[in-house]
Amino acid sequence: MPRAKSPTSAAVKWTIPLSDIAYGPDELRAVEKVITSGWLTMGPLTDKFEAAIAKHLGAKHAILVSSGTAALHMALVSLGIGPGDEVLVPSMTFVASANSIRHCGANPVFADIESPEFPLLDLRDAASRLTPRTKALMLVPYAGLPPRMEEVHEFCRRHRLQLIEDAAHALGGSHHGRALGTFGALGCFSFFSNKNLATGEGGLVVTNNATLARRLRLLRSHGMTATTWQRHNAKSLGYDVVALGHNYRPTEITAALGLVQLSRLTALQEARAKAAALYRDAFRGDDRVVMPAGDPEGVPSHHIFPILLPNSRLRDRVRQALLEAGVQVSHHYPPVHTFSAYRAQFRTARLPNTELFARRELTLPMHPNLKPRHVQIVTDAVKRGLKHA
Ligand SMILES: Cc1ncc(COP(=O)(O)O)c(C=O)c1O
Repeated sequence: MPRAKSPTSAAVKWTIPLSDIAYGPDELRAVEKVITSGWLTMGPLTDKFEAAIAKHLGAKHAILVSSGTAALHMALVSLGIGPGDEVLVPSMTFVASANSIRHCGANPVFADIESPEFPLLDLRDAASRLTPRTKALMLVPYAGLPPRMEEVHEFCRRHRLQLIEDAAHALGGSHHGRALGTFGALGCFSFFSNKNLATGEGGLVVTNNATLARRLRLLRSHGMTATTWQRHNAKSLGYDVVALGHNYRPTEITAALGLVQLSRLTALQEARAKAAALYRDAFRGDDRVVMPAGDPEGVPSHHIFPILLPNSRLRDRVRQALLEAGVQVSHHYPPVHTFSAYRAQFRTARLPNTELFARRELTLPMHPNLKPRHVQIVTDAVKRGLKHA
C-alpha cells in the first residue's frame, strides 16, 4: 500500500517503531476534501461515519467525540455516575479509565487482574470490593484480549451494576461473533494515533439505548438542543440548553479519516493478526516468554503485543537488547494506583497480580506495517537478551 511517511518513523529513527499509522493517498484526499468543503466541525461526515461504524460494530447508536477520554467521561455522566458512587476498574489500564471516573466526582475502586496469562479483571477479587455505593463496572479488554463476556454479564446482573466497556484497545476484537465494546450499556473507543483505527485524536461511544444516545448527543455539545450544522441548514434557528454539557465535538477531519480507515479496517486487522501469529510461532515452547491471551471463545484485536519475562531484571536485559537493535518498546502499564496522583489515596490497595504483571511486562512493536522480517529482528533481539541472562 503506498503510504505517506509516518510521524513515528520520521520523527525518531527507530529501525522498528512500536506503532505506526497505515495512511496513504486516500487519507490525504479525504482531508483535502474537508478543507475545500469549508465545513470543518461536526457535520455531515460525522453523521456518515457514525452510521458506518455503528453498522460495522452492530450497535444501534454511535456518537463521535473528540477523544476516547471524552467518550469515557460522557458515558459515565450519561449514566448518572456522580459524587459518592464507586466504579470497579482494573489498575492495569491507561490512566484515562480511572481519571474519567474521578472527573465525575466518583471513586475508582481498583480490582486485581486474574493472572499473567489472563491479565483481565478478576471478578472474584472485584466481588470482594463491592459496597452499597458500587454502581458500575468499567471493563477494559487490555491489549484487545477478549474477556469471558458471559461471566462479566452475569456478575453485573447479579450485583446490579452498569457495564461500561473501555474498548480503546478492542476495536476489531469480538466474542462469539459480537464486537467487543457492544456488550455493555455503553462502549467507548479511542481513535488516537496508535489505535487500530487512527485519526490522530478522536473517540466514540456506542449504545443500543436511544435515551442514552440522545443524552450523549446533548452532553457532547454544551447540552444544546441544536448543532451548528443544523442551524447552518436552518432546520432550527434557535436552541435551548437542557443539560450541563461539554465541548467534546469531533472535527470533520476526524470523521473523514475515520471513514477511510474504517473502509480498510479488515485488511489492517489481518496484517496485525499475521504479525501476532509470527510472534507466537517464534516464542512457542519457550516458557521464559509468557504471551497473555484472552478467552479462546473470542477474537483479539491485536492492539498491542505484550510479553512477560520471568522477572524485572531479565525484562530490562531484553529491553536493552531490543534498544540496541533499534526496536522501540513500551510498558503497558505502570499500574494506575502507583502514580503520584493516585498513590496517596490508594496506599493500602492490594493488587499483587497487577504489580507483578507490571514488573515483568514488555510491549513489543505491533502495527499493520510490520513485515515478517521486522518480527524476525524483534524476536531475535528478545532471544539475544535472554541468552545473556
Ligand atoms: C485503555 C485506554 N482507555 C482510554 C484511553 C483514552 O483514549 P484517548 O487517548 O483517545 O483519550 C486510552 C488511550 O490511549 C486507552 O488505552
